[in-house]
Amino acid sequence: MTESLLQWRDEYLIGVEELDFEHQDLFRRLNELQQGIAAELEKARIDDYLDAIEMRVEAHFALEEKFMRETRFHRFAAHKREHDEFLDEVRGLMDRFAEAHDPEVVGTLFRELKRWIIHHVVESDLELATVAAAVGR
Ligand SMILES: [Fe+2]
Ligand SMILES: [Fe+2]
Repeated sequence: MTESLLQWRDEYLIGVEELDFEHQDLFRRLNELQQGIAAELEKARIDDYLDAIEMRVEAHFALEEKFMRETRFHRFAAHKREHDEFLDEVRGLMDRFAEAHDPEVVGTLFRELKRWIIHHVVESDLELATVAAAVGR
């Protein structure tokens, strides 16, 4: 079964340019990964996608956390915990893929990334839109 691609929607926009840009970049990269899986690319290529995604996710979380600190966002601790738990999960799946090179694992990883990112952007990141508007960003 082919997993459907992520669909960007403008209702996901927070109103902070850098964060919105990175969210769209992550959607695009996840779709490239999914297309790579569907095309049965060799492991080295899939690894490149995964490494880039991991790096981008880490950098994105760091930037978002900086924004939350600067704006004294009241739910900072809970939001950061969501980021940390997600990174743990992603790294676990990546390790499993590195060991087994199992296409099933990378498929699971894509579904997990997709499910999480939509949920997180819609439920948690969008709370930052209010903060961004309040501080005039
Ligand atoms: Fe976030
Ligand atoms: Fe985010």
